[in-house]
Amino acid sequence: MKMEDYKRRGSSVRRKSNECMRGIVTVIVSLVIGFFIGVSFPAFSPPKLKLVPSIDTYLGDQDSGRSTQTILNVISVARDNVSTKAHKLDDPSEIFVTTNPRGAERLPPAIIASESDFYPRRLYGRPSEDLTFKPKYLVTFTVGYNQKDNIDKAVKKFSGNFTILLFHYDGLTTEWDEFEWSKQAIHISVPKQTKWWYAKRFLHPDIVAPYDYIFIWDEDLGVENFDAEEYIKLVKKHKLEISQPGLDPNSKGLTWQMTRRREDLEVHIETEEKPGWCTDPHLPPCAAFVEIMAPVFSRDAWRCVWYLIQNDLVHGWGLDFALRKCIEPAYERIGVVDAQWIVHQGVPSLGNQGREENGKPAWEGVRERCKKEWKMFQDRVSRAEREYFKSIGVRSSDHEANWVTDDRIQ
Ligand SMILES: *[C@@H]1O[C@H](CO)[C@@H](O)[C@H](O)[C@H]1NC(C)=O
Ligand SMILES: *[C@@H]1O[C@H](CO)[C@@H](O)[C@H](O)[C@H]1NC(C)=O
Repeated sequence: MKMEDYKRRGSSVRRKSNECMRGIVTVIVSLVIGFFIGVSFPAFSPPKLKLVPSIDTYLGDQDSGRSTQTILNVISVARDNVSTKAHKLDDPSEIFVTTNPRGAERLPPAIIASESDFYPRRLYGRPSEDLTFKPKYLVTFTVGYNQKDNIDKAVKKFSGNFTILLFHYDGLTTEWDEFEWSKQAIHISVPKQTKWWYAKRFLHPDIVAPYDYIFIWDEDLGVENFDAEEYIKLVKKHKLEISQPGLDPNSKGLTWQMTRRREDLEVHIETEEKPGWCTDPHLPPCAAFVEIMAPVFSRDAWRCVWYLIQNDLVHGWGLDFALRKCIEPAYERIGVVDAQWIVHQGVPSLGNQGREENGKPAWEGVRERCKKEWKMFQDRVSRAEREYFKSIGVRSSDHEANWVTDDRIQ
């Protein structure tokens, strides 16, 4: 395509999105007007408000500003109030079950399938006989084809009890079928996205609900001294909700003492760091802490952690410091498995695929964004906690202990 075409296309896309924005604004304005009319004449308006759920759902995913969100919140509260009332007044033969999943209130509870899975099915035969075996664990790798040999080795350390899911950031998928296991694996391909971007989009807790444990791993891990079944035995034995294998001390970029493999132990849940880093020894990075390169989550832990992942903060830096907020007591339930350990090879991959800018190499821009995201995430968590405690009238205690800033890890 020539530059001109790009420009033309760009402007028509822009025009379209302007039109779209205008459409949304119109809808919002009508909603607001509708809402106030509804509030003023509640007895006359239930049919109007019944329209709201579908529009709400549609707008809910737009990257809209706070005010839109607030309007929608009010609308959704109003909707619930009105709908419930309407139901009470209306014909009882109409179904409305408030304990159903949001948006599915009109369905009889017994038909609702609120969870799913990654189990492929046949196109023929009895559905009840499709699945002769249901893997109990899930492992995902975010991969580029260049790392195929390493991933092949890694996958072989995971037994048939695992569903294998590959997130492809380089668009190459069928190429992997040279490996027998690839034909049974789930492949999801979206160019140049990060592990946490995929995890947020494709690993919703209701979708991965059948799996007892979920491994969300990078592609550059050496697994010679690792066996996934043995690992799970230890995680169960020590009741770890979030864990990672110990990192061989020769690993590239071994940043934290907590993740360094201890030769004398099966599992460890605490460590010592550099002086001054851990004013509270029960908090990260000295405890309640694993890194984001090779985490393993129990089903329950993941159901919480998924909500922590931000849609725009794709690198996930800082997430490791906040994982503990999902677990109680985090200090006992988050740990590192030493008896099954891995090597972090530090192969440059996505990190190199930024954009050269102002004479700076591509990796630098990615790195900068990682750090910026870390700070943004930290600020969001702190602000959210402050807001919460303020809203219930409690003076928050020290909830920000030990947030280590990025200048310390250089
Ligand atoms: C919805 O109902 C609750 C409790 O019945 C009430 O406190 C709240 O103000 C109502 N919200 C709206 C927007 O009407
Ligand atoms: C798969 O899980 C079952 C049940 O826990 C276990 O008996 C079996 O040994 C596992 N398979 C492998 C290959 O380890």
